[in-house]
Amino acid sequence: MGDNKIVLKDLKSIYEHKVGLIYIDPPYNRGDDFIFYKDSQKHDEWIEKMKTVIVEMKGFLKEDGSIWISIDDSEMAYLKVCCDSIFGRENFVSTIVWQKRNTRENRKIFSNNHEYILIYAKDIKKFKKKRNLLPATQELLNRYKNPDNDPRGPWQSVTLSVQAGHAVESQFYSIESPTGKIHNPPKGRCWIYNEERMQQEISNNNIWFGSDGNGVPRLKKLLVNTKLGIVPETLWDSNFAGTTKDAKKELLDLNIYDEDIFDTPKPEQLLYRIIQIATNKDDLILDCFLGSGTTAAVAHKLGRDYIGIDIDERTFKYACERLKKVCQGENGGISNEVQWSGGDNYQVCKWN
Ligand SMILES: C[S@@+](CC[C@H](N)C(=O)[O-])C[C@H]1O[C@@H](n2cnc3c(N)ncnc32)[C@H](O)[C@@H]1O
Repeated sequence: MGDNKIVLKDLKSIYEHKVGLIYIDPPYNRGDDFIFYKDSQKHDEWIEKMKTVIVEMKGFLKEDGSIWISIDDSEMAYLKVCCDSIFGRENFVSTIVWQKRNTRENRKIFSNNHEYILIYAKDIKKFKKKRNLLPATQELLNRYKNPDNDPRGPWQSVTLSVQAGHAVESQFYSIESPTGKIHNPPKGRCWIYNEERMQQEISNNNIWFGSDGNGVPRLKKLLVNTKLGIVPETLWDSNFAGTTKDAKKELLDLNIYDEDIFDTPKPEQLLYRIIQIATNKDDLILDCFLGSGTTAAVAHKLGRDYIGIDIDERTFKYACERLKKVCQGENGGISNEVQWSGGDNYQVCKWN
């Protein structure tokens, strides 16, 4: 517990270049005062503070590390420019739009249903190699079938032709199907292989002419040779990443708050997605605006090491209570999905 500006300075000598993921969810400076913290500062002071802490945090990142920052419309544009200057525009990865609520807010001019997550890499090329795909959905797996009882297992067929823009002559020829039907590439397209390679693929049982042996030839993409997964998208709806309401319910269900619960928690699903995409098992995770402790709780359930910092004693006390419950195997949030049943431990430090 402590002011991140001070704590980070003290931790730097130990954790410089050691952190795989930084997630922060700072006060957004929207002029509200919440029960647990104030969220109204002069814009210049807010952005200056953010700049100082982000510069400090950058030094903690590993070469393939990334920082993810939750923010809303009030300061998003200014924070983006600030982060561009710290990380370099070339290291900007993406902006996620997260659907934080799925009900309409009728009192406002527009019902404000989303927030952003700004993502920067320490080094975009290294992060690109590290970025994990999301697990394949059942829908994706269902596309792999085995109509010809291929001993190598299920497969799906994909097109054998590509746009002819950069084609060479050897990619234009006719293919004869097992039934004798002649197939030419569609207009404006060519085959992906030359004729010799195509014949090899046909004799290796890698080309599918349909169940009647008469259809347009297609390539068999075997499940066993496929790195299955889904490239993450930038639009995260509430089914995928939860809502603020889900987050509050997660806190309520823990039964640790003996007064009002923390005002602005993030749902465990949201952190689950971020940690899935941005880290591997050996990555250390840092959140220096810890709040109710969502980042720490999810990191713990996913077997990652983590550091969480919060300036507010009361907030921090509840975050520690939450972690205690996590260690005991509480079954809320993502627990069922990741089969969390408890274990491991955490240490608490107070800076002064
Ligand atoms: C929006 S909340 C974070 C919520 C969190 N993501 C969650 O899921 O509960 C922001 C937190 O930052 C903390 N904070 C603000 N200024 C800070 C500082 N200088 N050092 C450490 N924590 C700070 C506040 O006490 C508050 O708990």
